[in-house]
Amino acid sequence: MSKPKPTDIEKRISAVGSTVTQSSETLLEVSDLTTYFRSSRGLVRAVDGVSFKLDRGKTLGIVGESGSGKTVLARSIMGLLPRSGLERNGSILFEGTELIDFGPKEMRPYWGAQMSMIFQDPMTSLNPVMKIGNQISESIREHLDVSKQYAKELSEQLLVSVRIPEAARRLDEYPHQLSGGMRQRVCIAVALACGPKLLFADEPTTALDVTVQAQVLDLMATAQNERFMAMILITHDLGVVAGRTDEIVVMYAGRIVERADTKTLFSNMKMPYTEALLKSIPRVDQPSHLRLSTIPGRPPDLVNPPEGCKFAPRCAYAQDRCTQEEPPLREITPGHEYRCWFPVGTPEGAGALANNRAQGTTATGLVFQEPEVATTTRGEG
Ligand SMILES: Nc1ncnc2c1ncn2[C@@H]1O[C@H](COP(=O)(O)OP(=O)(O)OP(=O)(O)O)[C@@H](O)[C@H]1O
Ligand code: SF4
Ligand SMILES: [Mg+2]
Repeated sequence: MSKPKPTDIEKRISAVGSTVTQSSETLLEVSDLTTYFRSSRGLVRAVDGVSFKLDRGKTLGIVGESGSGKTVLARSIMGLLPRSGLERNGSILFEGTELIDFGPKEMRPYWGAQMSMIFQDPMTSLNPVMKIGNQISESIREHLDVSKQYAKELSEQLLVSVRIPEAARRLDEYPHQLSGGMRQRVCIAVALACGPKLLFADEPTTALDVTVQAQVLDLMATAQNERFMAMILITHDLGVVAGRTDEIVVMYAGRIVERADTKTLFSNMKMPYTEALLKSIPRVDQPSHLRLSTIPGRPPDLVNPPEGCKFAPRCAYAQDRCTQEEPPLREITPGHEYRCWFPVGTPEGAGALANNRAQGTTATGLVFQEPEVATTTRGEG
């Protein structure tokens, strides 16, 4: 059988992502997903009952501090976690197919061609001793029945599409010969090589400086629009997802604590944790002598999390009820759900703040700090 012409290959590649029905049908539906690791200390509840849906072509932001379970969630959905010591339950429907019981053999056809991932550190996800061109074409040839030569041509086109100058020459270079921004573009090219319908981008720009960050994020958005691809953008920085996502879920201690469309999340967030995260975004208009707020305290131990609300030890609003009963994730208005007894901007929240302000401490003994003031504490320098 003769090999298809490059133009046919191009069509096949772009077809995988772009000619799917451009409707807003659900691509991914995750229900009550738990991902635990057995350890000598007990079960590490890294992902604990997460549910969300993602439509084709849409972007979901997953935000939370370090250790909140963002990467484990993404890897769990993709089936990319080592199976020893792993306890994974719930449901992962991808185009209606249940993936939860799939092992590496069943998942292999999905990796690259259906869903792929851009990892945080481009140096660890690229093979340092393999030429860039070979890394991209290897991925293409694994999923598409094309010759070496055609895969090479396509690799060059992919490098051009992620705006790598002198793409033909770069194919013969090794990762260490490229700058951090260029390496991350190569990772994007590898991830896009087989036209996935879903792209996970796990802190794709954390290692890059601010200008390059914006360029790389813009590039991903362009690729996404061209292919009508769904994207899950993972970050600890709410500033990265502002204006780049349709919806955001906020994670804390392996759980979703707030979910809303992006505009609502920024304008009407209800979880004190989301409020605190928002206040840790660097603002362009913020004078450099103003310190950014950091959230007091540390995230909970995932083996022995506190009773009640997991955020209570760090929350300026915390009342006795928070230490006794864990708030459920409730959808209060359509599309907006959160876990909190004393939400931001409500009479209950205002009452809780007034109570703690008067006492000088919260129900968990945290010295009361006004949430508004915490953002712009004046530094001495
Ligand atoms: N293989 C493992 N065994 C035991 N615990 C693990 C394992 N992998 C991850 N964890 C734990 O699961 C929790 C969630 O980790 P995860 O990497 O998902 O956090 P994250 O939100 O991606 O953080 P970061 O922003 O630092 O990337 C952490 O407490 C981590 O230590
Ligand atoms: S007010 Fe209570 S329930 Fe709400 S986040 Fe704070 S500690 Fe949790
Ligand atoms: Mg991570």
